[in-house]
Amino acid sequence: MCMNKNQAWSLYWQNNILESCIATGAIEDGAKLASIWNQFAQQLTTKSTVLDLATGNGSVPINLLTSQQNLQVTGVDFADISPKKFSLNNTLLTNVDFVPKVDIADLPFKEHSFDVVTSQFGFEYADNTLAAQEFIRVLKTSGKFLLIIHHTDSEVVKPARVKIEELTLLCEKSELFNQFECYLKDEFSLVDLEQSGKQFLAQNQGKVSKAISGQFFSNINSLIDLKEQLTPNTELLVLFTDMQTRIEAERSRLTQLVSASLSVNEMADFCDMLKKLGAELDCQLVTLPSDGAILAWQVSGVKHEL
Ligand SMILES: C[S@@+](CC[C@H](N)C(=O)[O-])C[C@H]1O[C@@H](n2cnc3c(N)ncnc32)[C@H](O)[C@@H]1O
Repeated sequence: MCMNKNQAWSLYWQNNILESCIATGAIEDGAKLASIWNQFAQQLTTKSTVLDLATGNGSVPINLLTSQQNLQVTGVDFADISPKKFSLNNTLLTNVDFVPKVDIADLPFKEHSFDVVTSQFGFEYADNTLAAQEFIRVLKTSGKFLLIIHHTDSEVVKPARVKIEELTLLCEKSELFNQFECYLKDEFSLVDLEQSGKQFLAQNQGKVSKAISGQFFSNINSLIDLKEQLTPNTELLVLFTDMQTRIEAERSRLTQLVSASLSVNEMADFCDMLKKLGAELDCQLVTLPSDGAILAWQVSGVKHEL
């Protein structure tokens, strides 16, 4: 099954999810990004126009509006987003103008349209050079920007690499999906299927986790129970295809995340490029309050006319 990049995100944002990249379970870590945006919003003039790039379900707009309710925020994303329909019942979202299916490398806005440009784990998913030229173009002179960008060694990117390996094991390096589909079509026995599942787990000890393989096997068990209850095979095949689609979407999103992340050298090149486009900027690491590990890059600055 081949999953289109946008499809993977469109599906994801329909799930009433606000964040896509929570690093750890620690409460203070979860609050770290929110506090960066809250502080940034407090430095902005009331009624500033803000463009949030690759906005998802509006995590950045919500954090900005929590501190400054009068900001005029537009959020764009390549995915078919509709946060007012799918996101948590957050009243702050009613003040945001969300525009789906926008490639941030080709923004549908005139030059000097916004006082502020923001992005959280979004900018770097696009063609960096084109997206940089575009956001600088639509930013007013003396306009501010703040970008939170994936770091190759962050506590978001490192676990994503491990998850991709496990999903690849399940999806590509095992016959489990094919065998299960055959079982649903009465072409493979339950005994052989169970044997195959046990073999997979035994061969991949240390590489499989409760979160991914555990969930996969528990979903498979639920489908087996349904089949035993004589649920029609056609319904089961639909449920199975839906499960496969969600697993492929997860793999696609994680693969995009890892390849979007910037190393130290790539960030240095990126900052040089922004400076050449007229930006005066500061680049620092965002670290986790719980243990000081890397969470992301933070690039902030102001646009000057060249
Ligand atoms: C990791 S999510 C971040 C979403 C949001 N900023 C947040 O922090 O929750 C990355 C987002 O980038 C979007 N994206 C990827 N490539 C894009 C592009 N070329 N133009 C616009 N959005 C893009 C995806 O659709 C996805 O919603």
